[in-house]
Amino acid sequence: MSANLPEVRILPNAAAALPLLLDEVRALLRQPTPLLGFATGGTFTAFLQALAVELQQGRIAADALRATHLDEYLGFAPDRAGGMVHELGTNCPALLAMLARGTFFPVPHDGTPASLRAHDERLQRAGGVQLQLLGIGRNGHLAFNEPGTPFDRGFHVTTLAATTREDARARFAPQEPPTQAVTSGIATILQARRLVLCAFGAAKAPAVRAMLRGGIDPACPASVVRRHGSALVLLDREAARELDGSVAAG
Ligand code: F6R
Repeated sequence: MSANLPEVRILPNAAAALPLLLDEVRALLRQPTPLLGFATGGTFTAFLQALAVELQQGRIAADALRATHLDEYLGFAPDRAGGMVHELGTNCPALLAMLARGTFFPVPHDGTPASLRAHDERLQRAGGVQLQLLGIGRNGHLAFNEPGTPFDRGFHVTTLAATTREDARARFAPQEPPTQAVTSGIATILQARRLVLCAFGAAKAPAVRAMLRGGIDPACPASVVRRHGSALVLLDREAARELDGSVAAG
């Protein structure tokens, strides 16, 4: 596969990504099989809340939309606080209605090979993920593909890296953060028709530099976005501050 530099846009702030992300959703809905893959985490909270308003006010029609997401903590059923589906539904209640209607496909929290295979097949029957939203971990992880995860993996159960657990600590306090998660693999992510990765804040700057300037290597799983033919990277100035000047401002 050839290495394509993704389109990189450096925005004045994270809020400037909201209209761009909503436009991506509108473009998705013009596709014949609009299946949207959400990412979770703080990066996308404002987007989920903005999407909730658009859906509620009918400016984006949910009827045709199908949705899924990248990953789930092992053993976290959709209604369990701290879990990814719970987070998505809290910020965008329309997704809970879709879950009830069977048009939101949750990542199987039991992580068994049979349920992961069934989930993958369900996504394929729905036409495959057309738009995959992505965040990036401080350690360069993509979904919960931690550094060192081979690029050829599909859905699998993974052990979370120490930095990933540290970043999740506040979410689970006073309990300990989980140690394992079910995650979409890099091979699965690369199958999506379009990728949109967002990174905001100075804490992400080293990972962003590794993603865009280092080798395309499992040491930085997010670097694989450079192997996708239709990838957009949205950064705020802080996340972009360790890039040299060769990335055009958006
Ligand atoms: C979550 C996920 C993770 C996050 C990443 C960034 O579904 O796939 O890769 O996108 O850890 O998390 P935040 O946005 O909280 O900085």
